[in-house]
Amino acid sequence: MLVLSSSQEMQQTALRWKREHAIAFVPTMGCLHEGHLRLVRKARTLGKKCVVSIFVNPLQFVKGEDYEKYPRTLEADKERLNELEVDLLFAPTDKEFYRGGFQSEVQVSQLSQHLCGKSRPGHFRGVTTVCLKLFQITQADYAVFGEKDFQQLRVIQQMVLDLNVPLAIIPHEIVREEDGLAMSSRNRYLTPEQRRWAAKIPETVNLVRERAKLNPNVSVESLLELAQRNLTSVPLTIDYVEIASERTLKPEKRSILLSAIEAPHFFVAVKVGSTRLIDNTSLGARS
Ligand code: PAF
Repeated sequence: MLVLSSSQEMQQTALRWKREHAIAFVPTMGCLHEGHLRLVRKARTLGKKCVVSIFVNPLQFVKGEDYEKYPRTLEADKERLNELEVDLLFAPTDKEFYRGGFQSEVQVSQLSQHLCGKSRPGHFRGVTTVCLKLFQITQADYAVFGEKDFQQLRVIQQMVLDLNVPLAIIPHEIVREEDGLAMSSRNRYLTPEQRRWAAKIPETVNLVRERAKLNPNVSVESLLELAQRNLTSVPLTIDYVEIASERTLKPEKRSILLSAIEAPHFFVAVKVGSTRLIDNTSLGARS
């Protein structure tokens, strides 16, 4: 596996490869777990050349978040990517990546303002900016994104559509631990006790999905109350529970019936201790 840290070298290599091969790309912030590895395996089936990036992007961390303490495990990550026969790892430093008085930003205005965008102002601007830059540098034909960060996936899809970025975004289903908790690099912050409490999140997601399946005419309010009750049976703090259309991500009014929502989707964000965790599920026909 080739390892590059220079954006220029990465782009030149990609331009060379692109003459003959499709490039499939998985952007990550490292601290790779099985969830990331599944995205990489998917990417390997899409393009002849597989590129992974590891970059803890300072632009997407809001003030007071865990940028400094975000786990950095580059050597272990390299080993895992090697085993998966990744062709190239792009791992730039902050200084190299955002050099020369960097001052451009990309913003997807509407999809970014709801849900996590409300609790983490500026977060999605940081994500879209880094992703567009990574897409340019890696010249990707395909980019694989996990559905755990469903809002991120939707925001990136919209950016690609709006700005005519010539690549296909490939969604990948959520990869879960044995007890259902969605895999995340942040799970490693949890103490064993918090880890048990965190299992309430997927339990709640399943409960809401099952209730919605049973009665599509249920109100948003009763589903959200069910979620709130279940989550607060353990000591975690709810940031939000919402139901929104996958198209707009705008939280629906509580009085509305689920059956009146186009492609309804359930979203949850909680804090377990100081660790913020998210999860989501479709409540529509595909659930
Ligand atoms: O999902 C992530 O790990 C990050 O938001 C991404 C897409 C790598 C951009 O920094």
